[in-house]
Amino acid sequence: MRKTHEKLINENSTRLDGRKSNQLRPIKIEVGTLSNADGSAYIEQGKNKILAAVYGPKELHPKHRALPDRALLICRYHMAPFSVQERKSPAPSRREIEISKVIREALEPSVFVEYYPRTSIDIFIEVLQADGGTRCSGITVASLALADAGIPMHDLVSACAAGKVDGQLVLDLNDIEDKEGEADLPLALMPNLNAITLIQMDGDLSINEFEQTLNLAKEGCKQIHALQKDALKAKYAAVKEVVEEK
Ligand code: CDP
Repeated sequence: MRKTHEKLINENSTRLDGRKSNQLRPIKIEVGTLSNADGSAYIEQGKNKILAAVYGPKELHPKHRALPDRALLICRYHMAPFSVQERKSPAPSRREIEISKVIREALEPSVFVEYYPRTSIDIFIEVLQADGGTRCSGITVASLALADAGIPMHDLVSACAAGKVDGQLVLDLNDIEDKEGEADLPLALMPNLNAITLIQMDGDLSINEFEQTLNLAKEGCKQIHALQKDALKAKYAAVKEVVEEK
């Protein structure tokens, strides 16, 4: 990858946004943001702002797409035209079609799809603002929307990238680190099962660096998993309070 920026990490090992190499961006998560969807969640991870909504399991149209032994997961990852600095066409791009596919494949192993034959589960991911790592934040938030819809799951899926920037291995790359760094490795994990459901890599890493980057990304996923669980508990604590007040 070409380097256009002078330095992304200074002599005190601090990144441009003030983080140390092994720090996640600040994360805010809300579950149950939308009242019309069966399940929903919202995440802010640094400057990323992403909303996820789930409908289903529900009857599938057209019926010939139905699978006799399991539910069909349908996923749409979409970037709003105003989510990036150069207005993006609202029409689905090749990149969005690819990311929709990898997100579906990252989420599917977590869902008991065999419980709901001949149905569909629709997952919508809307990127309102993007700053690098949106496929990972999208997986994290969509997994919560699935849980919020009451869909039985083996585990939440937590996702986070790690990579190499200015020769150092770093966690949770932002847009400039993603574009000007040497390598980026997005990872999705079901932490309770230690099962990886997505691994991609862009750039160059030695085998030793690859192993360290993978471990860094796994640690990031575990931290995100704890935040996901807190967000789910917060929603149900709020619901309990309302019920008790009645
Ligand atoms: O977001 P993620 O890292 O998963 O995917 P990417 O294809 O590596 O894109 C990295 C970043 O490039 C996005 O998060 C956006 O900040 C930016 N981008 C953009 O500015 N304009 C686009 N049309 C697509 C992506």
